[in-house]
Amino acid sequence: MAHRNTDIIPTVDGLAYGGDYNPEQWPREVWDEDIRLMHEAGVNLVSVNIFAWAGINPGPGRWDFEQLDAVMDLLAEGGIKADLATSTASPPPWFSQAHPETLPVNAEGLTLNSGARAEYCPNSPVFQEAVVEMASRLAERYANHPALAMWHVGNEYYRSCHCDDTAAAFRTWLQERHGDLDGLNHAWGTTFWSQTYSDWSQVLPPRICAETPNPGLVLDYRRFSSDALLNLFRSEAAAIEAHSPDKPITTNLMVTGNFSGLDYHRWGEHVTGPNRLVATDHYLIPEHDDDIPWPAQAAFGADASRGLAGGSPWLLMEQSSNSSAWRRGYFAKKPGDQLRHSLSYVARGSEGAMYFQWRASRYGAERYHSAMVPHGGTDSKVFREVKQFGAWLKTLAEIKGSTVASRAAVLLDFNSVWAANTPGQPSADMDTYPELRRWHAALWRRGVTTDLANPAWDLSGYEYVFAPHLYLLDDDAHLRAYVEGGGTLVVGPYSGIVDGNEHVHPGLPGALGDLMGVRVEEFVPIAEGAKAALDDGTEGRTWSEVAHAVDAEVVASFKDYPGTPAVFRRKVGRGEVWYLATRPADVDQFLARLGVVPDFPETAEHLELVRRTHADGRSYVFAINHGEEPAKVPVTGKNLLTGGLWTAARSLEPGDCAVIRET
Ligand code: GAL
Ligand code: ZN
Repeated sequence: MAHRNTDIIPTVDGLAYGGDYNPEQWPREVWDEDIRLMHEAGVNLVSVNIFAWAGINPGPGRWDFEQLDAVMDLLAEGGIKADLATSTASPPPWFSQAHPETLPVNAEGLTLNSGARAEYCPNSPVFQEAVVEMASRLAERYANHPALAMWHVGNEYYRSCHCDDTAAAFRTWLQERHGDLDGLNHAWGTTFWSQTYSDWSQVLPPRICAETPNPGLVLDYRRFSSDALLNLFRSEAAAIEAHSPDKPITTNLMVTGNFSGLDYHRWGEHVTGPNRLVATDHYLIPEHDDDIPWPAQAAFGADASRGLAGGSPWLLMEQSSNSSAWRRGYFAKKPGDQLRHSLSYVARGSEGAMYFQWRASRYGAERYHSAMVPHGGTDSKVFREVKQFGAWLKTLAEIKGSTVASRAAVLLDFNSVWAANTPGQPSADMDTYPELRRWHAALWRRGVTTDLANPAWDLSGYEYVFAPHLYLLDDDAHLRAYVEGGGTLVVGPYSGIVDGNEHVHPGLPGALGDLMGVRVEEFVPIAEGAKAALDDGTEGRTWSEVAHAVDAEVVASFKDYPGTPAVFRRKVGRGEVWYLATRPADVDQFLARLGVVPDFPETAEHLELVRRTHADGRSYVFAINHGEEPAKVPVTGKNLLTGGLWTAARSLEPGDCAVIRET
């Protein structure tokens, strides 16, 4: 569980604003213009040295800090703080050439060559040693530099490997988890298909094999791969702390709603607490097939980051001002989108807004990625809005350290996400993440501020807890306590089915059956695009089942096959639990039936309203009108963005934003 920390970047005045800054790509004259423009835009923090390994360590045993010294001095003189990165996410070609065993190997056994970035094996002792040396040298040199605000370890950890070093590390990890080979054989159910291991040397990472691989192996490998990267992060962080004990350390995570490579909740305690902070990158996706609008996507990333931070403030470390370079095609944000998106993250607990990147690169893989200073120059929509937002953040300085309280949580467990994706599932469409996004988006539309929370965290403060798909769950104890204590728990289908080893619990629906008072006889997946009608006029999709009430009220039933109850409800202690034996085709309808009211009653659906509150009670309501009509914002106080008074009768024009200090 996360530790609370409300002053996450103490040396940055007010809220943080800036982006990745890569002066090594530009001649010296441009640097001066950068500083001038940063002042114009209100930038006070930039991330430097993210991909500069080749510059500071140009060959074996060669170190050259001249340019980085100059950049740090330039920033210090310009009064701009540095989020100093360790540059370890992209080892240069000389390193890969000198240490070919550090190159990653994919499941097919192919070694990935140098030529892009992230070409490293997290389990290579040679690489591990190199990154610790790098972090240590940087920390020693810059610990007391006046520009230094915080440390940025690596960049977007995600790499996994299948090489022999990885096999060795995997075995050690498995020994810690399962003890001896008997433990491993039991956990992976190796009596199936004669997979019993008689010696540790037979155990391999999931390399390509003839048929469906063992799901236990696949699941443990994902856990191991997440831990391997966490260890890498921790080793660099420890090296930094040894020289620079008083500056915050972070890495840019991808708490986005579509990346599930790492168990961020396991990372939680290492990116929260004293001198640590949760930082995340978030790129909104235009081609999402589930129709989740950008502001709801932004809210998901923000709400998941806040959940990870344990409710403490966090930092949006990267976003784009316009298109990203890695999408199918270029896209442009509508005028004002940049302002609305950035403000939404701040509303939801970010201590500012950072971009990838400050100035658009003229060359390289991301030359068409948007930036704060675009190729189109400063006389542009993008830069005008960059300046506008910088000015807004200045007016919001006093919100620094305030927090957001959520009434609801959607449960997210990365182990469960992974387990639900192991091969051989009864339906290929029972993905977890898209379903969590769909529920979160419905709550967002309803105006309910929602955390993404791990099922094992303290849930007692939430009025509602939604578990749209919690496939893996050892037992019901924690959720039962939540419900008995007065909470309302809503469980989606195909939840609680397997234990931590992904063994099917005896008797369906598994771990939550007793709590829900429901028995399931068999699964009846619904084909993609098809719907199942319920007798209350609603519809289900993707999944249904033959389910019976053992000790529960039946709220609605399937009209046709399987013809049995579909929605159950049971009072338990002071609370209640709902079970849906199908995925509701329309989550909004279900929330309405449940009686979920918005945080701010009687406000328009397209009006985003979130409150941040200081420990001393000062509170701020962020209002963003995403709709086409003016919308009433029913609070009274001062609109910090304009300095004007706000009265409860006032409307916010379409596309406009306000931040009202409540009186
Ligand atoms: C991030 C990455 C940045 C840049 C950006 C482009 O994932 O950390 O270095 O590549 O994406 O959208
Ligand atoms: Zn490897």
